[in-house]
Amino acid sequence: MEPALESAKWDEARLRQAEAAAQAHLVGAVVSSWNNFQVTGRTVISHADGCRVWDVAGRERIDWVMGWGSLILGHRPAAIHDAVMEAMRFGLGYMYESPRTGMLARRMAELVPCAERMRLANSGTEATLHAVRIARAVTGRRLILKFEGHFHGLNDYLLFGVDGAKLLGEINDDGLIDPVPGSAGLPVDALAPLLLIAPFNDLDVLERAFAKYGHDIAAVIMEPVALNVGCIAPEPGYLQAVRSMASQAGSLLIFDEILTGFRLGGGGAQGKFGVVPDLACFGKAMGCGIPVAAVCGKAAYMDALSPVGSVEMAGTNTGRQLAVSGALAALDAMESSGAWHRLAVANDRVVAACRALLQRHGVPAYVEGFGGRIGVHIGSEQRPRNFREVVARWNRDYHVSLYRKLHDTLGLFGFLLPLGPCPEPITLSAVHSDQDIDTTLDRFETALRATPYQTARMP
Ligand SMILES: Cc1ncc(COP(=O)(O)O)c(C=O)c1O
Repeated sequence: MEPALESAKWDEARLRQAEAAAQAHLVGAVVSSWNNFQVTGRTVISHADGCRVWDVAGRERIDWVMGWGSLILGHRPAAIHDAVMEAMRFGLGYMYESPRTGMLARRMAELVPCAERMRLANSGTEATLHAVRIARAVTGRRLILKFEGHFHGLNDYLLFGVDGAKLLGEINDDGLIDPVPGSAGLPVDALAPLLLIAPFNDLDVLERAFAKYGHDIAAVIMEPVALNVGCIAPEPGYLQAVRSMASQAGSLLIFDEILTGFRLGGGGAQGKFGVVPDLACFGKAMGCGIPVAAVCGKAAYMDALSPVGSVEMAGTNTGRQLAVSGALAALDAMESSGAWHRLAVANDRVVAACRALLQRHGVPAYVEGFGGRIGVHIGSEQRPRNFREVVARWNRDYHVSLYRKLHDTLGLFGFLLPLGPCPEPITLSAVHSDQDIDTTLDRFETALRATPYQTARMP
């Protein structure tokens, strides 16, 4: 082990102390609910490098969560390390403007089609909160239209009809879906009436929604590729149609590119599909592990923000030099290292191999990937069009039995991680080598061999 990582080793006595402290003082012994993986619970990690994590017992695993999609350059990217060290020489965390702040905004404008202006935030949740506020201010309207199963962070306004919701909402006569809260503690009576929830990839319902409510829709917000419910791409022409309906109604179109951003080139899904939203939110891979996020968009709308306009968007920790330098280094390193090409190639390879393995072992499944976020939908070979179809066809019991083997005995971390109603995608990074992928696929085959499909209980 590298000397720098030696210090990550904990002796037995300190480990016991740390575990007792976590059990006593961390809620549920985790720092974030998501870390308590469904089915297998939490794993205490001592250190991470490249695409690998080591637990405190010294077990090495190949990581297929990769910071929930953030860590395209791996766990210890040298370029970001160097940039952060350099930034610390000029002030640990000041958040005033520096020459680098403007350069980061320029870089985003060069990469992202809609990004004439940028304002930084610290998390995706903050970014979507502010994007919606800008849309309401600009249009003077109340309603936000979102899609069932699309997740936009834990901000109260949008935490309905999400992938983690325990129940599916009732479908109304017009095809819109009753908002089911994604957490306890939401003021449902106050917030649910401000949302319209539509099924993804269904233009008829969208047309009806705009016909009835278009005059009061401030914005449509969407994951342009639904990556929180496995992986569901928009059908051909769908994004273009949403774009034109929003424009006709005078509503803003917001792409939540927090997952799609910087996985398939610098332009996000808007670059890939050639549909330019009015506003877009970025996070995750924008910092490759550095906590940074942004709202970007057309100047006409972004200038609603104070001090030009009167929409507040600021924060004590917003735009710290470490984050700005880290994000600049992340964007440059992804581009210069060929990370996007590598991700695209590896994505196609893993998709094809998973399809072939599942077929060889008689497991009905649909596999699709976007920039290394790969949805493995076990239960049917039919392509799901939206969240409801994912839920209806998923053979969770079988999926869970595969996942257990892969996690408990085969050294894969988060590969095929099951959530409540749908699978979490497998997350590739640019540092998963061909050898890492081969090893993983071998282990996947071992699990498939040991888990005949017909013995599983169908859902
Ligand atoms: C599409 C999307 N939007 C927003 C968020 C929230 O981002 P954050 O966790 O940084 O608040 C997430 C997080 O998973 C996400 O996947």
